[in-house]
Amino acid sequence: MDESKGDVHLFGPPLVAQEEPAASIDPQLAPGSNGGPQVDEMVEEILRLKKEQNAVILAHNYQIPAIQDLADFVGDSLGLSRQAEETDAETIVFCGVHFMAETAKILCPEKRVLIPDPSAGCSLADSIDVESVRAWKAAHPGALLVVYVNCSAEVKAEADYCCTSANALKLIEAIPEDQQVLFAPDMFLGEYLREKTGRDIKTWLGECHVHAAIGPRDVQRMWSERPEADLLVHPECGCVSSVMWHAAIGDLPEDRTQILSTQGMLNVAAESESEEFLVATETGILHQMRKLNHGKRFFAVKEDAECSYMKMITVDKLLRTMREGVYEVVLAPEILEGARLSIERMVAIA
Ligand code: 13P
Ligand code: SF4
Repeated sequence: MDESKGDVHLFGPPLVAQEEPAASIDPQLAPGSNGGPQVDEMVEEILRLKKEQNAVILAHNYQIPAIQDLADFVGDSLGLSRQAEETDAETIVFCGVHFMAETAKILCPEKRVLIPDPSAGCSLADSIDVESVRAWKAAHPGALLVVYVNCSAEVKAEADYCCTSANALKLIEAIPEDQQVLFAPDMFLGEYLREKTGRDIKTWLGECHVHAAIGPRDVQRMWSERPEADLLVHPECGCVSSVMWHAAIGDLPEDRTQILSTQGMLNVAAESESEEFLVATETGILHQMRKLNHGKRFFAVKEDAECSYMKMITVDKLLRTMREGVYEVVLAPEILEGARLSIERMVAIA
């Protein structure tokens, strides 16, 4: 599939290693941590303990800037899973939400996986539980269950395949055309996949409260102010079907309108010759975009699109994690085993 500009696509780039983290963090960039010289000291201690313990720090693109800046790798769900799978480190410290740390544990059951705050959840993952998914499967015998990575390990253990926003389309395209698919839990991504492929996909009615709130009116308002910008939209957004429709009929320029994972957005931001970008996703990603692309300008389609779960990971909590070894992700052996195949399939899809 063509990944160049002009085609709505979902594929993210390979993850890029961060430069050696700077011990100095601009306190202005560290909401949620204590700010100032104290942050510098905490960061120094975190980096020292990381070396001492042979640990790697992985951070999602929505983390607070201070966490992004000290992490070894910053990326999307797929890229971070791959980093977890490939690392030689003995301990993986996951700065993200709980299902992401669980995914790392499923890929590396022999490693210690830590999350600085285990209550960093996900509204989308919470929109489906294992009993409901079993009942849904039972009502559709013969259908394949594809789950988006934003769900619990127990739900993943029920699935045939798992995917992320970076490889969902490719996965659906690889499934035989006459095969019915149950897709959970994100309805906007599921609907996007159905519209793009024309496949027989039944979608669970789950949503992420942050992305669902980014609607067609937000896009319309920002677009009318900056019609020269590239429009980058995460497929969990409430506006995704409307954006596809308007791009198809020419209201939005097809060659500057793309539906992408967070890392896919960063890739386009780096490669596009445009100087302005409208970004429809959680606003934490703007930090990476601005940091990596001096001279380009990035605007949130919805400025208050903030995931409070992602922001629960702060520098002081991370320091505690490094000092005390809390909180370790532990999964029952049958869940680890049950979820492994669908996750391994997810990581294998380029
Ligand atoms: P990405 O995999 O695109 O980074 O998305 C993860 C997520 O939680 C989106 O809300
Ligand atoms: Fe979950 Fe939404 Fe937060 Fe992503 S932004 S982690 S989908 S609640």
